[in-house]
Amino acid sequence: MRVLHYFLMLSLVPHLTVSFSPYGILRNASIKLPFDLNNDTGYTIETASCNQCLCHAAHNPVVAIFTCTRHEMSNFTCQMYYFIPKRDEIEYQNYDTDLYLMRTNSTFEEKDDCCNTTMLIEEITKALQNTSISTEKFLTLSEGENNTILAVTSCNDPKDNALLSFNRFTGQSISMEHTSSLISAGYYKERYYFGTTAKDIGVYARNMTPNLGRVGIGVEIRTIRFLKKTQKMLAGASTSGIYLCDIVPNSGTLTNCITIPNIAPEKELHAIGVLQDEMAFYVGWNAVGQDIHLYRWQPNDTWVTDASGKIGHSAPTTDLVVDNCQRIWAVEPRSDRIRIYHRNSTLLGEMNVTGTNLFNLMIMENYTIFITHESSDGLRAIRPSLNCRPVP
Ligand SMILES: *[C@@H]1O[C@H](CO)[C@@H](O)[C@H](O)[C@H]1NC(C)=O
Ligand SMILES: *[C@@H]1O[C@H](CO)[C@@H](O)[C@H](O)[C@H]1NC(C)=O
Ligand SMILES: *[C@@H]1O[C@H](CO)[C@@H](O)[C@H](O)[C@H]1NC(C)=O
Ligand SMILES: *[C@@H]1O[C@H](CO)[C@@H](O)[C@H](O)[C@H]1NC(C)=O
Ligand SMILES: *[C@@H]1O[C@H](CO)[C@@H](O)[C@H](O)[C@H]1NC(C)=O
Ligand SMILES: *[C@@H]1O[C@H](CO)[C@@H](O)[C@H](O)[C@H]1NC(C)=O
Ligand SMILES: *[C@@H]1O[C@H](CO)[C@@H](O)[C@H](O)[C@H]1NC(C)=O
Ligand SMILES: *[C@@H]1O[C@H](CO)[C@@H](O)[C@H](O)[C@H]1NC(C)=O
Ligand SMILES: *[C@@H]1O[C@H](CO)[C@@H](O)[C@H](O)[C@H]1NC(C)=O
Ligand SMILES: *[C@@H]1O[C@H](CO)[C@@H](O)[C@H](O)[C@H]1NC(C)=O
Ligand SMILES: *[C@@H]1O[C@H](CO)[C@@H](O)[C@H](O)[C@H]1NC(C)=O
Repeated sequence: MRVLHYFLMLSLVPHLTVSFSPYGILRNASIKLPFDLNNDTGYTIETASCNQCLCHAAHNPVVAIFTCTRHEMSNFTCQMYYFIPKRDEIEYQNYDTDLYLMRTNSTFEEKDDCCNTTMLIEEITKALQNTSISTEKFLTLSEGENNTILAVTSCNDPKDNALLSFNRFTGQSISMEHTSSLISAGYYKERYYFGTTAKDIGVYARNMTPNLGRVGIGVEIRTIRFLKKTQKMLAGASTSGIYLCDIVPNSGTLTNCITIPNIAPEKELHAIGVLQDEMAFYVGWNAVGQDIHLYRWQPNDTWVTDASGKIGHSAPTTDLVVDNCQRIWAVEPRSDRIRIYHRNSTLLGEMNVTGTNLFNLMIMENYTIFITHESSDGLRAIRPSLNCRPVP
């Protein structure tokens, strides 16, 4: 965590002294949190001046802080809060609002603003050393059960490929499962989904036997992701596109598998980044000059992609992740670089992660990042020193 201590006493301009105790004002600042009129967190009053709000607050010991906002009609709205916000919840340069602090010896607790891409990249870059968890060559990476992460090894003969699982907090290796000819894996609601060189997807329970179901696809599945809210599985295939299957509740088997129109036929599809809240996903191909495309579900039950959601990105892409701040992280295998885009296609930042043959990416709490390399750089856990707010 960055060592930044903003004590209120230092940042107050000026101090107001009312007969019995000092108050502080932060000029042109407000609180970012939406103020819903939940009487557990505070309340709103309308007044003719900020001083009236100050008198009001001084007589209510529960009020920790309030904002006073000037309106065009030259009246004011004051929002009284019962708690002190975190430092990154304070918004500066707000010209019609002042912040009044009623407890001057309290401090704003630090939380890092992880949506600040510049800061985020700085902190991740600082943490790039001594990150190795395994020196196997790896392909796909996905979330497993009980705080584990799953990674599929990449052997010269795919028959030897294995599924390894690791504790995501400690990096400790937990288990290894040899499943013949495995090339991709996913986990959703107590079921494992394995794509194999036999050009199918097998569904397995936790103990890996028996095989609960098998769907022949006819092509090798390179990546498996889930549209969690709608119980659907997305699979990216070598040479022929995007498969979408429904997951049967309880059994976890796959049904109604369809293909979604592929705009880059004959290219390998490794990268699928799901927008879990929107029935939409980004795809990228492991090929030069394909860009990143957004597919959206339509009310007539089709999936379409058009120029509006496109992100200009010409490098080959082997993974895509959409984070809490709606940023798209694109993994470039040949340059061992991760580029971070705004949804409007603006490049927000990039970082070289070192190592070779970068392949997949996972982003966990506090921006702990797991990456696989299809080289002896293997599996790495990059743990920046950040204290982000929990996932909303
Ligand atoms: C807060 O609101 C609830 C329901 O609106 C009400 O029952 C309760 O008395 C209120 N509490 C205070 C302290 O005003
Ligand atoms: C400001 O005062 C006017 C006149 O009393 C009132 O109509 C208006 O709603 C007030 N505005 C706010 C934001 O309270
Ligand atoms: C607050 O904003 C006003 C209006 O732009 C400006 O005149 C004033 O200097 C600002 N005050 C501080 C303390 O930044
Ligand atoms: C703030 O300071 C006052 C007087 O110095 C003290 O009584 C009070 O306990 C302090 N409050 C906190 C939260 O430290
Ligand atoms: C983002 O972080 C950088 C580097 O720490 C800092 O200079 C910049 O002011 C921050 N931007 C915002 C909007 O907070
Ligand atoms: C990385 O690990 C090596 C050997 O354990 C140690 O000497 C070195 O100081 C570590 N570097 C960092 C940046 O932690
Ligand atoms: C995960 O947790 C559940 C419930 O605690 C337990 O039954 C199961 O065996 C655990 N799985 C693994 C792989 O540890
Ligand atoms: C479904 O809707 C989309 C977008 O509205 C349209 O482009 C497409 O042609 C429709 N497809 C069918 C089969 O109706
Ligand atoms: C994209 O969004 C960023 C951040 O909100 C903004 O700075 C930029 O101007 C936008 N670019 C386009 C092309 O809309
Ligand atoms: C990443 O490495 C490339 C090639 O060495 C270099 O041109 C680029 O500036 C680096 N980018 C960053 C953000 O360090
Ligand atoms: C995030 O980091 C903070 C500070 O190190 C820590 O207290 C918190 O538990 C972390 N959150 C998670 C979910 O790991």
